[in-house]
Amino acid sequence: MEPKPPDVSADANPLRALSLDTLRQRTSMKWRTYPADVLPLWVAEMDVPLAAPVARTIADAVALGDTGYPAGTAYARALADFARERWGWHGLAVERTAIVPDVMLGIVEVLKLVTRPGDPVVVNCPVYPPFYQFLTHMDRRVVEAPLGAGLRIDFDVLEAAFRDAAAGGGRGAYLLCSPHNPTGTVHSAEELAAVAALAAEYGVRVVADEIHAPVVALDATFVPYLSVPGAERGFSLMSASKAWNLAGLKAALAVAGPEAGGDLARMPEEVSHGPSHVGVLAHSAALRDGGDWLDAVRAGLDENRRLLARLLAERLPAVRYRPASGTFLAWLDCRPLGLGDNPAAFFLERGRVALSPGPDFGTGGAGHVRLNLATSPEVLTEAVGRMAEALD
Ligand SMILES: Cc1ncc(COP(=O)(O)O)c(C=O)c1O
Repeated sequence: MEPKPPDVSADANPLRALSLDTLRQRTSMKWRTYPADVLPLWVAEMDVPLAAPVARTIADAVALGDTGYPAGTAYARALADFARERWGWHGLAVERTAIVPDVMLGIVEVLKLVTRPGDPVVVNCPVYPPFYQFLTHMDRRVVEAPLGAGLRIDFDVLEAAFRDAAAGGGRGAYLLCSPHNPTGTVHSAEELAAVAALAAEYGVRVVADEIHAPVVALDATFVPYLSVPGAERGFSLMSASKAWNLAGLKAALAVAGPEAGGDLARMPEEVSHGPSHVGVLAHSAALRDGGDWLDAVRAGLDENRRLLARLLAERLPAVRYRPASGTFLAWLDCRPLGLGDNPAAFFLERGRVALSPGPDFGTGGAGHVRLNLATSPEVLTEAVGRMAEALD
């Protein structure tokens, strides 16, 4: 069957623009991992059409056959302008950036610059599962520093982890997730400054995964790690891929603080061969011209967070959900339901709803599920309904 063109409606909310029938024609991971009777609210893809300026840029590149290798600094310049306008951050220096294939591979390459095999890397669990997989694959030792009260960084726990990291005589690093996946926690300027101070005290290098940075609630403010005092030796990994749903168009940026530029300059030239040129074009267009679309998504996500809280209160009141300001993900504590360590397996089997299993997120994940809010209110309502009925 020929795929139909997206049925983009005049609705300003991109999360309401596509029907389920249209979405089911997609061939990406979100839509092809489970059978057609399953509602997929798991992997971090969004149910949105592309922002028009991004779609135009890709179409123009295709029309021109402009599908060669990437060149130039347009992506970094677009991100620097975006950072200035959105976050009031003037410190993103294009000469201290490098294009990388994607955020995870960028993290790996940056960690290779500042740590060696066997060295410890601290993470705040529960956290994005590939942190464990990629760190293990590159022979780094994962040191868990569980989030504390309110799903925020626990500085006593973090200090203990940094002490552990420093004790072995190796070079320690801290892979900060900001905003935090899966909890949606947006770290404050004070918290980030405290991270920088603690990292300096223990000689730990901070690598901030800021892939979700543009996607915060309309009334929230994202603070770039490298903008806080004391973060000069840190790195950030940024990308338009989450906020504009461009994961299939590989590209990301590694950004070094003022005292980490020398380290970043040691990144091998061949790493820059990995990103896709069309990806770089699309990401640059998103940052440059996709602001209105982004704000419409943020408004839709605000609506969905409120809707989810209401639906859970009505249909699954035992589930604990703390709406947070960042990401398009919701972290649900299902332990009161008594479904064991992996409630996602139950909801998949009995409710035909695919959620991300909490145990994959490390210590603190048991009994939880992660739900992807980047869908229409109708799908969200249907999903919670199915979850509730599964328990009947
Ligand atoms: C925190 C975090 N980092 C990295 C990624 C993956 O990014 P990329 O596809 O650019 O490697 C994701 C994807 O959801 C994520 O949530």
